Amino acid sequence: MTPRMLGASLLVVVALVLPVAARAADPSQVIDQRCAKCHGKSGHGDGQGLKDLDAGVAPVDWTDKSAMAKWSDGDLAKIIDQGGKALGKSKVMPAYHGKLSPEEIAQLVAYIRSLGK
Ligand code: HEC
Repeated sequence: MTPRMLGASLLVVVALVLPVAARAADPSQVIDQRCAKCHGKSGHGDGQGLKDLDAGVAPVDWTDKSAMAKWSDGDLAKIIDQGGKALGKSKVMPAYHGKLSPEEIAQLVAYIRSLGK
């Protein structure tokens, strides 16, 4: 195989693998699977799991753009990565460090922001 052919086949491999990697971390699916039980399917913070816990804390409604404006992207990423207690918030909000990659967390932050109206 010439170096040129090698380069071309590497490009093909990258082109095939990238879309799969992007799909694996579809943020709306991650939210359905891991977050909706507390944050609700639409991000209103009204998940049944949280009501059952009777934790006495209410997450911000992610569709409320002005309420979400009090949060920087960095703090949103930090609370997902390290949990509520890292920001002096409720420890009911779990830490996903090691369960979600930094890329997945960045996608979640962008997705959560996109819900704001
Ligand atoms: C066991 C319930 C629970 C689960 C599961 C959960 N959260 Fe939370 N989350 C909370 C609570 C409660 C708060 C509010 C903490 C506070 O204000 O003291 C919170 C706060 C947050 C915040 C800060 C803004 C806000 O909504 O108040 C973000 C961002 C967030 N969670 C993202 C996520 C993501 C992303 C997932 C899934 C990967 C997730 N959470 C899973 C309970 C949960």
